[in-house]
Amino acid sequence: MKLLMYQANKDKIFAVAPMMDWTDRHCRFFHRLMSKRALLYTEMVVADAIIHGNRDYLLEYNNEEHPLALQLGGSDPEKLAQAAKIAIEYGYDEINLNVGCPSDRVQSGTFGACLMREPALVGRCVAAMKEVVSVPVTVKCRIGVDEQDTKIALDDLSREVWERGADALWVHARKAWLEGLSPKENRDIPPLDYGRVHDLKAENMSQFIGINGGVEDLIQSGEHLGKCDGVMLGRVAYHNPSILRYVDQELFGDTVEPIPYADILDSMCDYAELHLSKGGSLNHITRHMIGLFQGMPGARAYRQILSTKSNKNNASPEVLSEAYSMVKDNISATA
Ligand SMILES: Cc1cc2nc3c(=O)[nH]c(=O)nc-3n(C[C@H](O)[C@H](O)[C@H](O)COP(=O)(O)O)c2cc1C
Repeated sequence: MKLLMYQANKDKIFAVAPMMDWTDRHCRFFHRLMSKRALLYTEMVVADAIIHGNRDYLLEYNNEEHPLALQLGGSDPEKLAQAAKIAIEYGYDEINLNVGCPSDRVQSGTFGACLMREPALVGRCVAAMKEVVSVPVTVKCRIGVDEQDTKIALDDLSREVWERGADALWVHARKAWLEGLSPKENRDIPPLDYGRVHDLKAENMSQFIGINGGVEDLIQSGEHLGKCDGVMLGRVAYHNPSILRYVDQELFGDTVEPIPYADILDSMCDYAELHLSKGGSLNHITRHMIGLFQGMPGARAYRQILSTKSNKNNASPEVLSEAYSMVKDNISATA
C-alpha cells in the first residue's frame, strides 16, 4: 500500500469527513467500495478513551479501509501522544486532531473548536504527536469561534501548527459559535467563507491546506481543488454516497468505470454475513446505505425495506437483496 503523502501543490486529496455516529467502520467499508482514492476519516475518538477504554473496540477496522485517518479529540499533549502511539499500532495512515467540534461535551473537556482560542496549545499537541508517530499528523479546524477575527484566528492557528510540524490543515470554512447554537446548527448557520480558506492557501503555498464545509458535488470539489490541496465532503457523501463512485475518475482522471451497483450490493451482503456471524446486527451496516439510490425510481421502497426490516431480530442479508430488487430494474445495465 502506498503511504499517504501530503504534498502541497502536488498531491490532491479528496476526503470524506469525520462524522460521529456516521463514519464508523461499516460506513467506511461501504464508502471504500466506491472510491479507492478517497481518504476516509474515523469518527472522533477521545484520547482518554483510547488510553483507558476498550482499544480494540475503538480502533479496529477492516483492512480494506485504507487510506484511513484516525481523528483524535483531546487537548493534553501527553495524552494525545500516548493515544496516537497506541493507535498507530493498528496501522492508521494519519492522525488528525479535532479543533472544530463545538458540542458542549467537547467544550467541557476543553477540546474541539474551543481550541481555536489556544493556538499555542494546539501546536504543542501536534508536536507531541509528531514525536511519537511517523505517519502524517494533521489538524481539522474552523476559521474561528465566536467574536474572533477570522483573519487573526486562522493565521495564528495555522502558524502554530506549521511551526510544530503538522502535515496538513483541514479547514471547515465557517466559524463555530460556542454559545447558543447546537452542533447541528453550527454546521449550517455560521456563514461559509471559502475565500478565507483560499486566501490562507495562497499565503501558505508550501503547506497542505484542505477545505471543507457545504461542498455539494464533484464539480464544486474540483473547483476547490484548483485553489486548495484537498477537499473534504461530509453530509453530501453520507446522504448521497453514490457520488463516491465517480471520485476516482472525475477528480483523479483514473481510467476506471464506477463500480456497478450490483457489485456494491454483493460485497455488502458478504460483509453483512460476516458481521452477523460475529453477533452483529444487520442494521449496523444497512443504516449507512439508506441514501445509495437517492433520486432514482424505487429508492423510497428500497429505503423503507432497509429501515423497517434490518432492525428485526435475525434479519439476514436477504433484506439487502430484497431492498435492491426495488431499484434494480431502474438502473441501466452498466451502472
Ligand atoms: C453527524 C455529524 C457528525 C460529525 N462529527 C464530527 C467529528 O467527529 N469530528 C469532526 O471534526 N467533525 C465532525 N462533523 C463535522 C464534519 O466533519 C464537517 O466538518 C461538517 O459536516 C461540514 O462539512 P459538510 O458540509 O460537507 O457536511 C460532523 C458532522 C456531522 C453531520
